[in-house]
Amino acid sequence: MTRRPLVAGNWKMNGLRASVVELEAMIAAYDSHLQARAELLICPPATLLASFPAVAAGSGLAIGAQDCHPAPCGAHTGDISAEMIADAGAGFVILGHSERRADHGETDSLVRLKAEAARRAGLVAIVCVGESEAERDAGRALEIVVGQLAGSIPDGATGADLVVAYEPIWAIGTGRTPSEADIVEMHGAMRAALRERFGAEAEGIRLLYGGSVKPENAGTILKLEDVDGALVGGASLKAASFIAIARAYL
Ligand code: PGA
Repeated sequence: MTRRPLVAGNWKMNGLRASVVELEAMIAAYDSHLQARAELLICPPATLLASFPAVAAGSGLAIGAQDCHPAPCGAHTGDISAEMIADAGAGFVILGHSERRADHGETDSLVRLKAEAARRAGLVAIVCVGESEAERDAGRALEIVVGQLAGSIPDGATGADLVVAYEPIWAIGTGRTPSEADIVEMHGAMRAALRERFGAEAEGIRLLYGGSVKPENAGTILKLEDVDGALVGGASLKAASFIAIARAYL
């Protein structure tokens, strides 16, 4: 099965209305050659989720959110539901990012409920997993990540509604990345765990690498076995660096 590469940008808590110029520049650079090779996605903050889908409409570049609540609506001040995200015209939602796990105490079981909500609303969930530096140093990285996968992913997941992002916490925003061998080992272990649980369906689930992906290292990382794309933070804020990363697929 061939998996379409996905280069996803996570803007985190960055971006004002004026940042639409970066989105427009990305769309302009997302020509037919690049479209044929890779899918592009930008996940802006919720304030821009209302306007970005219309800007990107017809461009092939997808828009996504960074979190959702498990419930479709209700008394949950400050939260946004998967249905609201879909209604805004977005197609994806990042779930269980390590910053949400750390800042908001999100657990695997909550992430799983959110992933179920995303599927209910017709969104593709990008479920994030990744070990801390102490866990890697203790030789527990594979065990931690495979455990997070088991707890965070709903039953019946398919390549049409789930993407997994492996993001070692110590590599996020630090300029450090795991060795090529460590990325291949982790992605192979995730694929094996998905195969065990979902059978042949696992072949369609894209596995992204995230953590200090830059134009300088994208060419190496994106060609590794079982790496089906990237989840990019800092380097996704500017069109020049985001597009340079995606061009690793040309
Ligand atoms: P980074 O962030 O690319 O800035 O390291 C990645 C992420 O947190 O998704």
